[in-house]
Amino acid sequence: MTTTEIPGWFRWVDQQLFRAILADQADGPPGDVVEIGTYLGKSAVLIGEYVRPVERFVAVDLFGRTDLLAGAEANRREVDKSYKSLTRSKFEENYLSRHPALPYVVEGPSSWVVDHVEPGSVRFCHIDASHLYEHVRTDIQNARTMLRTGGVVVFDDWRTEHTPGVSAAVWESVFVDGLIPVVLTPTKFYGVYAEPAALARNAEQVVATSGEFWAERQDIAGHSVLRMRLQQPPKPPPPPPVDYDRVEALTAGAIDDRLEQWSATLTRSLDSQVRRAALDASSITRGRRWLRRLSRRATSPAAKPEGR
Ligand SMILES: C[S@@+](CC[C@H](N)C(=O)[O-])C[C@H]1O[C@@H](n2cnc3c(N)ncnc32)[C@H](O)[C@@H]1O
Repeated sequence: MTTTEIPGWFRWVDQQLFRAILADQADGPPGDVVEIGTYLGKSAVLIGEYVRPVERFVAVDLFGRTDLLAGAEANRREVDKSYKSLTRSKFEENYLSRHPALPYVVEGPSSWVVDHVEPGSVRFCHIDASHLYEHVRTDIQNARTMLRTGGVVVFDDWRTEHTPGVSAAVWESVFVDGLIPVVLTPTKFYGVYAEPAALARNAEQVVATSGEFWAERQDIAGHSVLRMRLQQPPKPPPPPPVDYDRVEALTAGAIDDRLEQWSATLTRSLDSQVRRAALDASSITRGRRWLRRLSRRATSPAAKPEGR
């Protein structure tokens, strides 16, 4: 299955950005790649395309194991509501349909990731697990520990109405921990804790080369941030102003034409009915005459047979 065919949440603009960032990094020194929250593998399958043999791709998800969420009732409800049917085997099946081998899979709460990844080793980290404040906050702290200098961190649903906890945790990291916002799309926030130039360049290149995306820069607390999204289709030109005199003339002409057609049809139909009625009348007259002749012949003496 391709990224497009796998169910999940991964917009086209983000797919293009992930590709640009990961491909650019894959020309540089090796580093690990982490995804926290894989679901069925929509984003993981794409990320896996850019992992080199010397690198580790660590993919973390509960895969429905809410029994591992001790004391995290809100997270349990979140998983039961949105990801109930997810199993590890479904994720693995999807991943193996595009790759010869699985990533390093951690089945458990996102906080376990630090037990499987070296500090300072990660070049790219996608955080897309629980969308509740305290969990995202822990994921951010862990990402900060795992990222190497200039490593990119991406957060999902940074501004969605039903995920205010993600917004709170992400902007808190900007103002408290030094997270640098570099690119914002409708659903994802791209940042670094140092050296934002490469990430900014990758995004600018996507905008410049594809022609599919709208973008603008905004300053946020001293950071120049690129907002980008898919272009809206161009609006159709406004209709020309209505010339009521012309419309009236056209309408009047059309009504006249139609009346003429109706009257011609009606005349043709009446003509044919009159002709049929005339024919009927003449055949009745002929029939009557024939009957009269017949009865006269039958009652004449010459017509009586002999001996009767
Ligand atoms: C929005 S989905 C991930 C979407 C995926 N990245 C895609 O591209 O379609 C969130 C995932 O996070 C997992 N999840 C939720 N809470 C978690 C937690 N505390 N620890 C680990 N995984 C969690 C869910 O099981 C679900 O598969």
